Amino acid sequence: MALAEAARKVANEFEYTSEDVNAAVKEFLREMDEGLEKDGTSLSQIPTYVTAVPNGTEKGLYMAVDLGGTNFRVCSIQLHGNTTFSLTQSKVKIPAEIMTAKTAEELFAFLAKQIELFLKEHHTEHYEGHIQRIATGTTDKEYREQEIFNLGFTFSFPVQQIGINRGLLMRWTKGFDIQDAVGKDVCALLQKEIDKLHLPVRVAALVNDTVGTLMARSYTSPGKTSTLLGAIFGTGTNGAYVERLGRVKKLAGGKENAGAYDASTGEMIVNTEWGSFDNALRVLPNTPYDAALDRDSVNPGIQMFEKRVSGMFLGEILRRAVVAVLQDLSVPLFKDEDSSVNELHSTTQISKDSSLFRTWGLDTSFLSIAHGDSSPGLRITRQALDRDLGINAASVEDAEAVKIMAAAVGRRAARLSAVAIGAILIQSGRLETVTGNEELDVVDIGVDGSLVEFYPGFEDYVREALREIPQIGEKGEKRIRIGIAKDGSGVGAALIALVAGKVPNPADAAGE
Ligand code: BGC
Repeated sequence: MALAEAARKVANEFEYTSEDVNAAVKEFLREMDEGLEKDGTSLSQIPTYVTAVPNGTEKGLYMAVDLGGTNFRVCSIQLHGNTTFSLTQSKVKIPAEIMTAKTAEELFAFLAKQIELFLKEHHTEHYEGHIQRIATGTTDKEYREQEIFNLGFTFSFPVQQIGINRGLLMRWTKGFDIQDAVGKDVCALLQKEIDKLHLPVRVAALVNDTVGTLMARSYTSPGKTSTLLGAIFGTGTNGAYVERLGRVKKLAGGKENAGAYDASTGEMIVNTEWGSFDNALRVLPNTPYDAALDRDSVNPGIQMFEKRVSGMFLGEILRRAVVAVLQDLSVPLFKDEDSSVNELHSTTQISKDSSLFRTWGLDTSFLSIAHGDSSPGLRITRQALDRDLGINAASVEDAEAVKIMAAAVGRRAARLSAVAIGAILIQSGRLETVTGNEELDVVDIGVDGSLVEFYPGFEDYVREALREIPQIGEKGEKRIRIGIAKDGSGVGAALIALVAGKVPNPADAAGE
């Protein structure tokens, strides 16, 4: 078969039509309702106990840490109170052995150590003063209160939140696998390790990165419109949105656990955990590449939406598709012209050791590169094939074929993302109210993550699909403002730590 034809055939397998989008929106809306009513559903719909979003006037110095996927970030944030902030941060890659450690202690001790290093480097006076007072026994309670940093803990995994700074880990995602931590309060685990190092830090708030993104976007976003949704399209994917309190039906039984929360706004941020939308595969597409990826993952059968949308997985989907074309010896992909028949490795230009033949061997950034490549003869893609996969003699046709497949995987991911965004827009009812005031009629969405930031045309594809949803259409789509909330999770965590600092901690009140 001709190479371009073979590539287009694979691309067709990733086609995600308007009908598909609309069927999935319907299912998403159903799962949203189900998740608001009871626990243990595919879409978790976790109440966050955050009932208000900031307005930009908040002030103060806070700390935040962010355990998201690939990196651990520690930052301090000075909120200036005029919608701006300054941020100091350090970032370390999480070692693979920590991601799959035997005990929770190993992970949390590593995190506490990073907090200590950060304080020593960026807040020496604060740190040394504290340590000295502990050593000389001159720390009185009141002084300690002022000196302690309130820390917002962005923990970007599914957590059953039972209070503003308490939450039990439900399951790991994104390649983490430390069974010892499942079911435990991640704030308590972190606080314990912080205390072992005598750091002047109190874990004041637990935040999912999507909630942080929503808060940060609300703090910085211009104008009178409050933000509806914070969404991450990065290593993983997820969204948190502002829900009417009355609709969060499952809250009724769990209220007392949550401690004090202010119900006066009549709203609460809900963390959907949409990475696990349609784990039953009622409406999600399922190519042979998706199915094989799931089988080989650390968590088969869950995070099925995430496995088709987010950065941790797209490179792997493409890798599997490329290998399938390569293994068809009748297709001249990466093969010398005169040798299309024999055994695979003797006929291709690729060594057996190429990471093309290794699970997770192709990074999602490759998709962005190939999709965005308009250089003559696709020079940039061919260079990337050489650099990332050791394929040094790819032809223009090879590169074109890979580009066609990469674009199809990326486009499907963006259209699936529109399903989640579209359903939440519909559920919010915000498109139904029209004031005629352009500014008030904007529906604001804050996003973050490598895919939205770097994948060329991601937002355009999302918008295209949103227009295909009848309840949104062209008119509705025009009202949607999507803005990147850079450093959202750090700033958002600081903002929640600020709110939490004002609310009496129920645990303290109970004398725990
Ligand atoms: C996690 C979410 C998180 C998302 C984005 C997912 O794997 O389950 O909690 O918000 O990744 O980081």
